[in-house]
Amino acid sequence: MEYRTLGRTGLKVSALCLGTMTFGWTADEPTAHRILSAAVDVGINFIDTADIYPYWAPGAWAGRTEEIIGRWLKGQRREALVIATKVRGPMGSGPNDQGLSRKHILEAVEGSLRRLGTDYIDLYQVHWPDQETPLEETLRALDDLVRQGKVRYIGASNFPAWLLCKALWISDKYGWARFDSLQPHYNLLHRAEFERELMALCRDQGLGVIPYSPLAGGFLTGKYQREAPPPPGSRGAISEWLRRYLQNERAWRVLEEVKRLASELGRTPSQIALAWLLSNPVVTSPIIGVSTVEQLPELLGAVGWPLPEEVKRHLDALTAWHEE
Ligand SMILES: NC(=O)c1ccc[n+]([C@@H]2O[C@H](COP(=O)([O-])OP(=O)(O)OC[C@H]3O[C@@H](n4cnc5c(N)ncnc54)[C@H](OP(=O)(O)O)[C@@H]3O)[C@@H](O)[C@H]2O)c1
Repeated sequence: MEYRTLGRTGLKVSALCLGTMTFGWTADEPTAHRILSAAVDVGINFIDTADIYPYWAPGAWAGRTEEIIGRWLKGQRREALVIATKVRGPMGSGPNDQGLSRKHILEAVEGSLRRLGTDYIDLYQVHWPDQETPLEETLRALDDLVRQGKVRYIGASNFPAWLLCKALWISDKYGWARFDSLQPHYNLLHRAEFERELMALCRDQGLGVIPYSPLAGGFLTGKYQREAPPPPGSRGAISEWLRRYLQNERAWRVLEEVKRLASELGRTPSQIALAWLLSNPVVTSPIIGVSTVEQLPELLGAVGWPLPEEVKRHLDALTAWHEE
């Protein structure tokens, strides 16, 4: 496994981060534990979760994924792992059970620590902005958590550039802990949101970048067929989210080309899509997700070889975003 430094911190994280959104959803607990152990066995030390996962899954509840990770963590060397979780989404139905107020953040961190069965969180991320709470209140609460040792580093997810820049400015102004990472939605089929403004900001300010949905929810694996229904049990079969690609002619054309390049290079489409992200110097670690342990080895094969420069240029041009 290759290790990278997260932004301008000294923290070393594996070039692939293991996402856990499937745990308690499409991966049951024994499967989730097998995935975690297999990932750690090959040197992945970076694990991403969120307090609300997998609240959308039938019969599940917010917090279940952290509980599943917590039970696995009991048998592990905690200090060898970099555990990232998130706060913001609804953990209950009350008005203060969500958001980025001081009150909710201080409650939510205790909940995550309890479910994960750990004394500290390595990277505590705000899941998405809260327009109803002043950023100063959020950042001050996060700074307190860092000073108390409950949290080692803080990060943001799904922030627009102007707000992320404002947050960095506020932290700097008061000498508080600042966001050291951004978790954006970023893949070959979803580029503009990150590249328009955030990419330059992260490069300039030295933020680590950990893109989520690097395979467009599995579309870029190449397992979906244009004329056939999604394979039973796949995300395309159980979630509406993938329709944005399954019903999108441009996405199918990009996939055809990714498949062609993959077979030319003796790789798989997933490996090409991940290698394209890894070839961007601003990207630290794409967050991979799997629903079975068998899916993991293919994704690990994305690390350790450079995407040829001409292939990168070709993919850049093929998937370029345009002004609307
Ligand atoms: N911050 C946020 O708002 C946010 C949002 C989304 C995700 N995330 C994080 O990012 C992580 C990854 O997101 P994602 O799951 O959307 O990533 P993704 O890489 O785009 O999609 C992962 C899915 O692709 C399929 N897949 C992966 N490897 C495969 C293989 N070798 N063969 C066949 N299918 C394969 C699996 O789906 P099926 O087997 O189910 O078809 C798997 O669950 C999450 O776990 C979470 O930690 C964060």
